[in-house]
Amino acid sequence: MSWRADAKKRVAIEAVKHVQNGDVVGLGSGSTAAYAIREIGKRIRCENLKIEGIATSSEAERMAIEEGIKLTNLDVVEYLDVAIDGADQVDPDLNLIKGLGAALTREKIVDDLSNVLVIIVDDTKLTNKLGTDMVVPVEVLPFALSQVSKRLEEMGGTPLLRSLKDGKPLITDNNNYIVDVDFGPIDDPRKLREHVKLIPGVLENGLFIDMADLVYVGSKTGIKKIERK
Ligand code: A5P
Repeated sequence: MSWRADAKKRVAIEAVKHVQNGDVVGLGSGSTAAYAIREIGKRIRCENLKIEGIATSSEAERMAIEEGIKLTNLDVVEYLDVAIDGADQVDPDLNLIKGLGAALTREKIVDDLSNVLVIIVDDTKLTNKLGTDMVVPVEVLPFALSQVSKRLEEMGGTPLLRSLKDGKPLITDNNNYIVDVDFGPIDDPRKLREHVKLIPGVLENGLFIDMADLVYVGSKTGIKKIERK
């Protein structure tokens, strides 16, 4: 196992310690969150825990079913006790960029409704400024693609429609497109989040501001826990 895979697994195991019997748990997407889903499944089997999960993507849902995690949804629960999710970039204030896995809209809904949001990353995801060598993924209604792209350019971004290997646009779980926008290092991520959100045709963007309560960072040498001030 590579050091990164090992670090992801270790932070996932640490994060799952926040899950208690009876909890409703948000199941994040991506390779790091996948380790957490496996660990929750293991704890359910070993400790006979009664846990309900809300999946943030079809892939997370598939894994949860495989692991025997009972699934619920937002029509029947009002909030979640804890959500465990990955991230693509984390700044010193624990603001995040998410969405390289294309699940940002459901992730934002679930993470926002959670009493505690635990983020798990390896230390390559840490940055001093969001947007440094990282795009901001934006979920866009296909009908509005050209207009949204124009507006993103006017805001100083360089938008690129995310495509699959065959050249066709990636389609999200919500039947939309993802536009990856290069804004360069972002001085005011809160303001940018609001501006992008206000473009008609934008469903959601990957700037997760003031949402993470704590972040576990895995490195070659160990795990660091960072809590929001
Ligand atoms: C999914 O849309 C993303 O927000 C993921 O949380 C993110 O891409 C992290 O994925 P990895 O854990 O695979 O790096």
